[in-house]
Amino acid sequence: MSHILAIGIATLDIINTVATYPSEDSEVRALSQQIRRGGNATNTLVILSQLGHQCSWGGVWVDEPDGQKILADLVHYKIDIRYCHCLSEGKMPTSYITINQANGSRTIVHHRNLPEFSLLDFQQIELSQFDWLHFEGRHISDTLIMLQQVKRDGVNITISVEIEKPRANITQLFPYADVLLFSKSYAQSHAYQNAPDFLMAIRAQVQSALLICAWGEKGGYALDKDNQLLHSPAITGKIIDTLGAGDTFNAGIIHNLCQKKTLAYALQHACQLAGQKCMQQGLII
Ligand code: FRU
Repeated sequence: MSHILAIGIATLDIINTVATYPSEDSEVRALSQQIRRGGNATNTLVILSQLGHQCSWGGVWVDEPDGQKILADLVHYKIDIRYCHCLSEGKMPTSYITINQANGSRTIVHHRNLPEFSLLDFQQIELSQFDWLHFEGRHISDTLIMLQQVKRDGVNITISVEIEKPRANITQLFPYADVLLFSKSYAQSHAYQNAPDFLMAIRAQVQSALLICAWGEKGGYALDKDNQLLHSPAITGKIIDTLGAGDTFNAGIIHNLCQKKTLAYALQHACQLAGQKCMQQGLII
């Protein structure tokens, strides 16, 4: 069991499942609706907690009714929230999500009007108690300084950074990570059509980190420190809900690397967990 800190967001996810994806300016009736806690960092922690790790969240939380729902879920999954920045006013970020029952795709409209977890918040945390530190690649200016500070202070901790969305200056985070977790959509936003080409191109910029990329139905890919390319296929079955599949994949990688498993094993287990997630609603493993 490892002690893991993740810096990132928690959201309220309002999820409508529809028979087929609606066309613009149409009106359709949802087959069902679910309201769940979401957010990449907390999704990953919820999986890691179920895998037996001691998990802490660093993020911004608001004391309002949706914040209370989110808190109840985090407490249920034993996520430690003592390092959160708590606000008495404001609104938790909310995602309006359409899941297409025909193929499990999830389309997200995200609304956020909340300060980010800041450098000052981060500096209140005693990092030496943690084995692993995971960041969402967001709020780049402060995240960069957080990463630089961890390295400068020589804290003995493994750092993973999730690179999901193309954001200005996000590549500045790359040199500070031990593990970089890329999304398919990030690779595609840079015009790559497959993970191996993308990972090789990233290797030209980043010398020693483990480079990992989940590619949906094609499975997961990784480049180890010796530039050996690893691949694990996605498991097959009826796709029901892909929401949080990437976050689950990332948890699978972190879990296995914490356990000192090989990268090949980590990739295989991460694909299995992510695939299993896609064949069910929610993040219960
Ligand atoms: C899934 C997710 C949702 C959330 C959105 C935030 O990866 O974390 O739970 O609403 O992405 O970007």
